[in-house]
Amino acid sequence: NAHGPLKGRRILVTAGPTVEPIDPVRFIANRSSGKQGYAIAEALRNHGAEVILVTGPTHEKIPAGIEVKQVQSAREMMEASNAALPLDCAVCCAAVADYRPEIETTHKIKKERGGLTNIPLTENPDILKTLSQMKEGRPRLVVGFAAETDDVLGHAEAKRNRKGCDWIVANDVSPGEHCAMGGDRNSIILITDKGDEAWPEMSKADVARKLADSIAEALRGPTLV
Ligand code: PMT
Repeated sequence: NAHGPLKGRRILVTAGPTVEPIDPVRFIANRSSGKQGYAIAEALRNHGAEVILVTGPTHEKIPAGIEVKQVQSAREMMEASNAALPLDCAVCCAAVADYRPEIETTHKIKKERGGLTNIPLTENPDILKTLSQMKEGRPRLVVGFAAETDDVLGHAEAKRNRKGCDWIVANDVSPGEHCAMGGDRNSIILITDKGDEAWPEMSKADVARKLADSIAEALRGPTLV
């Protein structure tokens, strides 16, 4: 859509899980399907944006008209996200592993030797925080996500402050029939500088369209990059 409201805007979307290797056959990952992030990338593209989608492994179809970078680990996601700069906006929807095994062995760890009962972990780089706290060339609008199971609003607000992003999309990922993680529907609270707005439960495609509309509204005005 060459005439959409996001024409000329360069937007990064991170999506899916990250996969952190333990040894050649084992890894640490999570239940993110990539559905919400892919839907957002498509909605932004439909609004005319130039979209770079940095994605962990998912079963989603590679969308047309979007630059897709497939990665495995948080470190690779960080590198691909940095390479996408400069950006007008970044939407960090990926469920990035907070920690990875300190040592990735090239040989399979033998359970008989007790090597699997204690796997030392080390912290991963934080993509959202890094983009939010850039001193120079920061994207104009940085949007984070917060996956929470209790006190969704409280935890999400604290996370927004801690990371320094402009907006945060809080979603309840409590297990159940309509679990947002992996499922097709989502119910979110959008937290911005203007306050918070709870959206009714809807499909991930509808969440994506509504979020793309809000981003287009926020980025109105002259192009910065
Ligand atoms: O993929 P789906 O099955 O469709 O599910 C969508 C979703 C539930 C995964 C998604 O809507 C969502 O909530 N994504 C964020 C999940 C998450 O890991 O949240 P968090 O609270 O751990 O992280 C907070 C924010 O920091 C997120 O924007 C995350 O992308 C970012 N982050 C976290 C750690 C890290 N090392 N780097 C990051 O960029």
